[in-house]
Order: sequence, then C-alpha cells, then structure tokens
Amino acid sequence: MKNYKLAVVGATGVVGQKMIEVLQEKNLPISEYVFFASKRSAGKTLRFGNDVYVVKELTNDSLKDNFDFALFSAGGDTSLKYAPIAVEHGCIVIDNSSAFRMDNTVPLVVPEVNPDDIKWHTGIIANPNCSTIQAVCALKPLNDAFGIKRIVYSTYQAVSGAGSKGIHDLENGIQNYIEDDDTTTYYLEKFKYPIFNNCLPHIDKFLENGYTKEEEKMINETRKILGKPNLAITATTVRVPVFNCHCESINIEFEKSFEIEKVLDILKNAPGIIVQDSSKDEIYAIPTTVTGHDEVFVSRIRRDFSVNNGLNLWVVADNIRKGAASNAVQILEKLL
Ligand code: A2P
Repeated sequence: MKNYKLAVVGATGVVGQKMIEVLQEKNLPISEYVFFASKRSAGKTLRFGNDVYVVKELTNDSLKDNFDFALFSAGGDTSLKYAPIAVEHGCIVIDNSSAFRMDNTVPLVVPEVNPDDIKWHTGIIANPNCSTIQAVCALKPLNDAFGIKRIVYSTYQAVSGAGSKGIHDLENGIQNYIEDDDTTTYYLEKFKYPIFNNCLPHIDKFLENGYTKEEEKMINETRKILGKPNLAITATTVRVPVFNCHCESINIEFEKSFEIEKVLDILKNAPGIIVQDSSKDEIYAIPTTVTGHDEVFVSRIRRDFSVNNGLNLWVVADNIRKGAASNAVQILEKLL
C-alpha cells in the first residue's frame, strides 16, 4: 500500500482544524502530514493522534516538496496563489475556497452526488460552498426521479461558516449581553451588524444585481453539480445567531408528478441522507442535534399546494463537517 504525503493549508482555521479532526478519525494510507497557515501562526503546535506538529508558514516554496495531496482552506486568494504551484509540482489539490469552483476545467464534487466528475480533474478539485453541498445531497435523487424545474432556496446559516471571526462575534455578543444587557454595542470582527439577537440577510459581498455572492454561489454551483446549466433557481441566504449547522428551506417544482410516499422512500434510500420527519411526534432536524454528523438531515417533507408538482423540504447539515472538511476528505478518499 502506498503511503502518501498530505498538506493541510489553513490548518489553524475553523475548517482546517476540522479537516485535521476528520483525518484523524479515518485510517488513511498517509504517512506524512504537513500543516500550513500564515506567518501569524507559524510555530504554533497542533495535536494529531499522539503526535505534536509545528505549523509552518506557507511560502512560495512550501508546496514544491513532493506532496501527493493538499487540502486547502485558507481563503480564495491563498488558493489562487498557491494551488497552481502545488499542481505544477505533482500535487492534487482539493480546494475549499470559491476560487476555482466555476472554472470549466475544475470538477466541483460532492461524492454522494457526482463522484464521476473527479475523473476529469487536471490537478484541482473544488469543494462546493457549504450551503450548496447539503442542498444537492437532497436534490440529486429527487432530480433523477422527477426532474427539477425550479428551486427557491432560503437559508439560515451558522456563524462557523464565517470562520473564527464570525464565531467570536457571536461569543462576544452573548458575553456583552450577559454583562451589559445591551446587544447593540460590542466590537465586531466579522459582521457589519451584531449577529447576536439578530438575523443578517447578507452573506459575502453584494453584487450589482442585488444578490449576494453567497446566493450566486448556491445558484451557479447547484447548476454545475446537477449538470443543469439553465435550471431556474433563486436564493436568499441569511446569517443567524447559531454557532454551527446550516438550515435550509428548499422549495422545489418538478417536471413530473410525484407521490409524497415515493419522495420519502427515495430520500430514505439516498446516500448520506437521514430522514428525520414526524409531525405527529414533533420530530425534525435542528442544529443542536445535527452538529457532529456527516449526514444531511431532511425534515418537514410536504407538498407545496400552491403550484403543480411542488415540494417543500427542511434540510440541515453540519456546515463545517459535511459542508466543508468531511466533504473534502471524502473526495480525498476517492482518490486514494
Ligand atoms: P492564520 O491562523 O495564520 O491566520 P478562519 O477563516 O477559520 O479564520 O481560517 C483561515 C485559515 O487560513 C487560517 O488557518 C489562516 O491562518 C489561514 N490563512 C489565511 N491567510 C493565509 C495565507 N496568506 N497563507 C496561509 N494561510 C493563510
């Protein structure tokens, strides 16, 4: 069995740390791990199993050193600058940033949905946006059965998706509330407005057309992964004061008619999906029970009576695990 050499770029970040945790849970044939971050974190130590690793500063030469694979989660600019260097030196990059996702030469992969796309990579494989990953896991088997005609996404996204600064903003808001009973004035590292006791209809930058980049990512990435470039999709993405797990209300119109029992049957048998849905017992997926899982949870499965062939779903997943780290490691496993 070959023993591979793997780099984690952005190893000190929220996703990078989770990548390391997920790698530790698996028994992969990797003999050498190297953990990179910016100059700020160089020299910090990280635990991996029984070993302690020293974080290295990522430089122009770092990835020239015979790496087989690199998991990148250090933002788009870092990926744009360093991923091509790694590829040039024979390394396959699995990139969690948005830098290459819509590049026609780069596959955008969710292993339960489009594993065959991995085959045409030319060095970089992109990990989709966290909100897209969980959505397409639920949508793909239904698209295969009934043909999706239109999607309306409304998301409720956790602060962990905004990295460590996003988490600090919620923690500081809670602390400030306890000490001052005032939710409006505290130092913000990430968001424009307080996230504690609030909902912010603004994730990533605003675009000329009034949408945010997060909304555009959900629309374009869903089309690319499902192989339906003209699919009608609209999205509203909202940051909510939840530490971890994104929730999504997904409204779907299908080409074909369906029975709700068939939808349930398809979702119950779909890879990576757990159906948690009993209105009688008031059972449905919520962030506090979904956190820590790699599966995508689907609840509130019900017909939309306002249109022909309409369906509503509530979809919850751990955005740092399935939405980022675990999905990247699952792609890596397919390559080993
Ligand atoms: P650092 O800890 O040195 O800042 P998060 O978004 O959760 O805060 O994580 C971002 C991750 O990306 C961190 O590991 C951060 O390292 C890393 N990072 C940011 N900029 C760079 C860079 N220019 N080179 C390497 N790693 C970077």
